Amino acid sequence: PNSEPSTLDDWAVSSNDALCLRLVRPEDMDSEIDIFHPLFTYPVFGMEETINGYQNLKIKLYYAAGSLATYVGISYDNRRESNGSQQPDDIMALLSEKLPPGFAVDYDEFMQTVQEDEKTFVPFGTKIHEFDSDGDVSYEVYKCNFKTPGFKEYHRRLQVFLLWFIEGASFLEENDERWEMVLLFERQKKDEKNIYSIVGYATYYPFFHYPDRKRMRISQFIILPPYQARGLGERLYKVLYNDFFQRSDVAEMTVEDPNEAFQDLRDKCDLSWLIEQDAFAGLQPPVPGPTVKELATRFKLSKRQLERCMEMALLRNLK
Ligand code: ACO
Repeated sequence: PNSEPSTLDDWAVSSNDALCLRLVRPEDMDSEIDIFHPLFTYPVFGMEETINGYQNLKIKLYYAAGSLATYVGISYDNRRESNGSQQPDDIMALLSEKLPPGFAVDYDEFMQTVQEDEKTFVPFGTKIHEFDSDGDVSYEVYKCNFKTPGFKEYHRRLQVFLLWFIEGASFLEENDERWEMVLLFERQKKDEKNIYSIVGYATYYPFFHYPDRKRMRISQFIILPPYQARGLGERLYKVLYNDFFQRSDVAEMTVEDPNEAFQDLRDKCDLSWLIEQDAFAGLQPPVPGPTVKELATRFKLSKRQLERCMEMALLRNLK
């Protein structure tokens, strides 16, 4: 560059812009079109979401689409000379605090792994559902827990996405084997082989429900950006709810600290299902407390969520 940057600002970049995420398949090796950026990076780079000491910084955090084998590549035009107290941020050290060990820093080595993994990777756990299986693409839902062989290592790579997309997300206590999860995969058929790509996942925890059943609380729910806004979150939510609804050991489904987007998704799914079931047929406001309680119990929803949906349904009738 012609002009030497001098102030601190010239050497500060937004960590949200610098970090480039990608789910890589062998056929789109060199394409950059599928790159997506995080919404949050403060858990790694601090509240300012700024990285100091570089110009034109790019951090590639790439994943094999199925196995989530990981590559980290850091590039920049200039790196500021260290001068005493002002050191450029140590990006690799900061990332390594959150990424499980074993990621590649050599791109060719990573791409070789991508090629191999594509041929061999199959999802962990038990397939509980499949949808949209026309043509060569379909979606499959797998249920796992930490007892599923090999899953802990996979989950350590997967959960890093929570940091980038859910505000205030924290990692699960993986020694607690009561956690359950469902993982959504896209399956493509290529040369008679099944090729998997991770789409999203949800985790949930069984709390005690008096006297002898469980209250399932959804804790984390994410659809990765390349797959968002296609109705897949809705599909995954419905698979989960259906599973709970049919299980005799589950009395209720709740959600831990839902954000606005998830609450919208949840309202939309619960409301359409309740209307489909004629849950509010013949009801007029004000609906008596025992009726609300009976409906909440029957549909295994929290009283508050049932009330929300009922209010929306009754308002609709007023129109
Ligand atoms: N803002 C508001 N509402 C939204 C948004 C959004 N960004 N995204 C989805 N919705 C709601 C809408 O009601 C939508 O219905 P519409 O398309 O008719 O408007 C409905 O969800 C279903 O849309 P889908 O296409 O099925 O949603 P998607 O597959 O994108 O999944 C999700 C939604 C899970 C919120 C996804 O965008 C995501 O993972 N975001 C980042 C992580 C996140 O925020 N997770 C939830 C955290 S809370 C928790 O974990 C308990």
